[in-house]
Amino acid sequence: MPLHHLHLPDEAATTALGAALAGALAPGLTIYLHGDLGAGKTALTRALLHAAGYPGRVKSPTYTLAEPYTVQLAERMVTVIHFDLYRMSSPEEFLEAGFREHFNENSVCIVEWPEKGDPVLPLPDIHIYLTVTGHGRDVELRALSDKGHQCLARLKFLPNL
Ligand SMILES: Nc1ncnc2c1ncn2[C@@H]1O[C@H](COP(=O)(O)OP(=O)(O)OP(=O)(O)O)[C@@H](O)[C@H]1O
Ligand SMILES: [Mg+2]
Repeated sequence: MPLHHLHLPDEAATTALGAALAGALAPGLTIYLHGDLGAGKTALTRALLHAAGYPGRVKSPTYTLAEPYTVQLAERMVTVIHFDLYRMSSPEEFLEAGFREHFNENSVCIVEWPEKGDPVLPLPDIHIYLTVTGHGRDVELRALSDKGHQCLARLKFLPNL
């Protein structure tokens, strides 16, 4: 299984990775973003959405828990839903909000603090782990499903990063 390890020396590198991910995404993918507060989960998602053509502000969905964005991916309109489950108080909240219905073949779900969604959060196709290292970030991308492997195989990331 190919494991991708990268170093992101500055925020521009995080932005470049977000753009590369935008180019590799396909509808139906679920991505978990792991990492401490301030690790760059929202920064990466924001870069991905902007690279996918979303022109507006991308804020952390801290209180709404989920924020949908409609973007064009590979000539299809796709809803990317950005979750931040940090403040979710119980699995029931996830179920009652109808969040499980977002995890389908027509959308891409990106989830910060997925551990808070245990055990009702659907499983991911890709895990992304962000770690603060000095001034930069280390990142590890790990695919779990065929769809996830295909996405990472399409990932074109600048080799100098
Ligand atoms: N590669 C990088 N090197 C250094 N700083 C970075 C890098 N990428 C992002 N940052 C900075 O790290 C911070 C990341 O904040 P962000 O809100 O994205 O974190 P988060 O992981 O979403 O945290 P939270 O769990 O609170 O939602 C921002 O201040 C951003 O400028
Ligand atoms: Mg965040």
